[in-house]
Amino acid sequence: MASDAPVAGRRITPAELSARKGGVPIVCLTAYTYPIARLLDPHVDLQLVGDSVAMVLHGHPTTLGATMDMMIAHGQAVMRGSSRACVVVDMPAGSYEDTVENAVACAQRIVRETGCHAVKLEGGVAIAAQIAAIVAAGIPVMGHIGLLPQSVEKEGGYKIKGRSEANAELLYADAKAVEAAGAFSVVIEGTVEPVAAEITRRIAIPTIGIGASAQCDGQILVIDDAIGLTVDRTPKFVKEYALLRDTVSKAAEDYARDVRSRAFPGPEHLFSLSKDKA
Ligand code: KIV
Repeated sequence: MASDAPVAGRRITPAELSARKGGVPIVCLTAYTYPIARLLDPHVDLQLVGDSVAMVLHGHPTTLGATMDMMIAHGQAVMRGSSRACVVVDMPAGSYEDTVENAVACAQRIVRETGCHAVKLEGGVAIAAQIAAIVAAGIPVMGHIGLLPQSVEKEGGYKIKGRSEANAELLYADAKAVEAAGAFSVVIEGTVEPVAAEITRRIAIPTIGIGASAQCDGQILVIDDAIGLTVDRTPKFVKEYALLRDTVSKAAEDYARDVRSRAFPGPEHLFSLSKDKA
């Protein structure tokens, strides 16, 4: 029987992920830094350098704070820490919506300067021409439909999608457009479960859910949400697999106590005149 298990030491390609439609669910997490990329790499199929980096690591109120330089710097860090997972870098808002030419030039710059394996763009019918042009230029594309964080200011907040018949029809059209444009997979975000499941049935490329459906062909979470490092409100769709904010807070409290009481550094942390190891 053919196995969906990744082959150790070999890079997982977008084409391989695309071929996993309907198979063992595809495991995705965001990553923004070298150490996290190293820790995640043996366990995930895909690491996404999401534009959520602007909020999670840089403290911006929305993903609109992401820039090309920011995405490239974090893309480079993740690529240095990853040898096995497929690495996808988000195209930031403003880098692809206006013209097809700009979209292709920005996608090419991201791939050239990071070495990543694919880019991700938000939108369906509205940006199908950009997806098709980037794919034609030889760069694999991951789509992103449903709740689009880059549109939250325009939409006046984070609005769950697919609650009306009319909106569900728009989402089916978006999914079909992304598939027809040649994307190798598509993220479905913040969409009611039956509609996300129906999209998964209607298209032949893998769907990756976040706040969507267990029927999707894979799942993604923001890494800081998944490890409990998010200091603000954690969304309903997140499952916390660790509570690192408590660990970090406790470590800082213990360190502060040790410094103030001169318990740190202890003799084992100090250098004497005789030669000892650093
Ligand atoms: O930027 C991001 O982290 C994302 C995921 C939520 C899919 O796009």
